[in-house]
Amino acid sequence: MNVLLDAATIQARVKELAGEIERDYPDTGEIHMVCVLKGGFLFMADLIRAMSTRVTMDFIAVSSYGSGTKSSGEVRFEKDLETSIENRHIVIVEDIVDTGLTLKYLQEILRSRAPRSLRTVCLLSKPSRRQVDVPVEYIGFTIEDKFVVGYGLDYAERYRNLPHIAVLQE
Ligand code: IMP
Repeated sequence: MNVLLDAATIQARVKELAGEIERDYPDTGEIHMVCVLKGGFLFMADLIRAMSTRVTMDFIAVSSYGSGTKSSGEVRFEKDLETSIENRHIVIVEDIVDTGLTLKYLQEILRSRAPRSLRTVCLLSKPSRRQVDVPVEYIGFTIEDKFVVGYGLDYAERYRNLPHIAVLQE
């Protein structure tokens, strides 16, 4: 597999993203980070450790892919949040935005629960694949239309543990 982003490059960018997010929120405010499972778990873990502001967190799970490399366009809700997000500053933590369907669905659900603010940070974005317009305030890396694995991202549940991001050769 070809390494697209090595571990040091990812770590450096994650620290920058953490700084960008913190700068955008008032010192006293609490940021409630909502990690989208499973792909977002490593990104979330590194991101929150690079933040000094008071953060709280929760986890949500949706599935849109099954075990293939092409989006089915169908999003299934697998696990809900444990606490209310009403009147809180919410940041959705996503691994990758591809067609945008998953994120659009998630944003609609969360927005209907009346958060004080709702933003999204994603590590990777594949703009050439976008099918719906969806706002993403913080983007780690913009990449080409290649299926990637590692750093939380899987192919059929494998490769999530890689510290880097690689292009999967099929
Ligand atoms: P979307 O709904 O098409 O934007 O897809 C979003 C979800 O599909 C992401 O949260 C990932 O779980 C998965 N996904 C999209 N592209 C890739 C990829 O290149 N590698 C691994 N998973 C991907």
